[in-house]
Amino acid sequence: MKLLLFSKILFVLFLVQSVYAQNPLFIPPSLTGTVFNLDIQTGTQNFYPGNPTPTYGINGPFLSPTIIVNKGDIVTLNVNNGLTVATTMHWHGLHVSPSNDGGPHQSIAANSIWSPSFEILNNAGTFWYHPHGEGKTELHVGKGLAGMFIVHDLIEQSLGLPQTYGIDDIPLITQSKAFDVLQQIAIADHMDTSILVNGTIDAFYDAPAQVIRFRLLNGSSMRSFNYGFSNGMTFYQIATDGGLVETPNPLTRLLLAPGERSEILVDLTSLDGQSFQLMSFGSEITNGIFGAPAVGIVPDVIDMYDDNPLNGGDYELLAINVVAPTTSPVTTIPSSLIPYTPYLPINADVNRSLILDTIRILPIDVPNLAAGPFGINGVSFDMMVNNIYVPLNSTEIWTLHNKTHIAHPFHIHDVQFNIIEKNGLPPVLSEQGWKDVVLVMPHDSVKFITKFTDFEDNMVPYMYHCHLLHHEDDGMMGSFIVSSSVGIDEISLSGNDDLQVSPNPSSNNWDVKSTSIYGEYTVILTSLIGDKVFESKEKSIDIETHFSIPTNELTEGIYILKIQTENQEFQTKLMKTN
Ligand code: C2O
Ligand code: CU
Ligand code: CU
Repeated sequence: MKLLLFSKILFVLFLVQSVYAQNPLFIPPSLTGTVFNLDIQTGTQNFYPGNPTPTYGINGPFLSPTIIVNKGDIVTLNVNNGLTVATTMHWHGLHVSPSNDGGPHQSIAANSIWSPSFEILNNAGTFWYHPHGEGKTELHVGKGLAGMFIVHDLIEQSLGLPQTYGIDDIPLITQSKAFDVLQQIAIADHMDTSILVNGTIDAFYDAPAQVIRFRLLNGSSMRSFNYGFSNGMTFYQIATDGGLVETPNPLTRLLLAPGERSEILVDLTSLDGQSFQLMSFGSEITNGIFGAPAVGIVPDVIDMYDDNPLNGGDYELLAINVVAPTTSPVTTIPSSLIPYTPYLPINADVNRSLILDTIRILPIDVPNLAAGPFGINGVSFDMMVNNIYVPLNSTEIWTLHNKTHIAHPFHIHDVQFNIIEKNGLPPVLSEQGWKDVVLVMPHDSVKFITKFTDFEDNMVPYMYHCHLLHHEDDGMMGSFIVSSSVGIDEISLSGNDDLQVSPNPSSNNWDVKSTSIYGEYTVILTSLIGDKVFESKEKSIDIETHFSIPTNELTEGIYILKIQTENQEFQTKLMKTN
């Protein structure tokens, strides 16, 4: 233990030393306009002396250009797959139709072009794009396919924020990677000891002495970063995943899990000539999060976790040297940004619970509560199965229950959501805003609310999944179909619509009839915010199942009835009157 600690200290010293052997931060070239040609290609990079590293990139050998668009633009993205294998390209965080979303169902064959075209509906914010092939996300992202996708809008442009890309508006794609002895990028390897910012190892950045906007993206496969500065300086969070917040939020630390983004402002006006570092303070990360001092409880631990000095270590991400300001610098931090009007739980139509837990693919498998394999609601991702049906325009509360020893960053496509609570408490200020990824701590639960608007498709699903890429590839992912042919008053989540409840509304009891329920089933009644008010286990051996639910104990209002059979779930909204 002592020895290990000693080696961690040595490593940290080594990192501090490396301040003197640095490379200028690469700023990915930007693409603007409405037609974007994205050529996926193989390449090589000389990250370390010796063997060149084979990589993937877009319009270059490694990483991808930054796409910059305006809200309301109609864009076409010509994604040309020059690899010898199929891949996909997903616009993470953007509100687009299922067939434009670039999930595993929109495979782009080798040497072919996929050209989705859509309107930018999102507000100003920092999004990103990356491959999403079935079981291949970690490999393709790890080899270099990841880029930033910036959306501007008129309100944001009127706020006086730094917005000159590469000058005072700086993308910071932070990633940890593992390299093997031949300097090849190693996938699913927990010795990810190299830090790359915009693909640059040991990066430094000469920042003008003014207000700078950093767009932080944690593009790592597994690792969370606890951002902060070596000089202890306060920075101001101005955006969460989905865009601007109400008021700049002063912070000295900001934790981002894989997939999460945030925009921050730093005021360098009085720091001309000084040098300091953007750090990840891993020693302060709560245990259970990949990157913290410890994950798991013996015997459910991650192999070699303690051997990686970044786990629980404080280390440099980017060296910053403050230089002379530009000619028309931004010098103040605005006092307010945009109004925040989250969805209200009172308006929710549907409640769903998602259980994040280990799964057994074979009965002899011994699931590891820290290392997996993991599934959602007891199943592993299956391209041929749709897991959830969402009625178009449904406002929904999703409750995520983490039954494992490791924190999972849960991500959902199509929508931005508002976190209602984490383990029963309202979210901290830095998580109040529009989100598409939320970190669910071990043995904890998270409730979020969102609304599924604009896009429906009876055939093509959207995805929800853990954004630890290794977990995602292993099957910790599910799909949902948004469709207006699923009604809220009588929905069957499994495609059967013979569930009948009468009377509805009712003042004394509900009579339920169905021909799709057979064998053991559970009847659950919850309030709109998910509090359980009734539960009973039943068994049916008749062709038609018939039972009734007493309502005399219930207060007036709307309830969600859920009927779970071994392999189906039915759900409907009921109303109790006096
Ligand atoms: Cu960033 Cu489904 O992905
Ligand atoms: Cu996504
Ligand atoms: Cu996970």
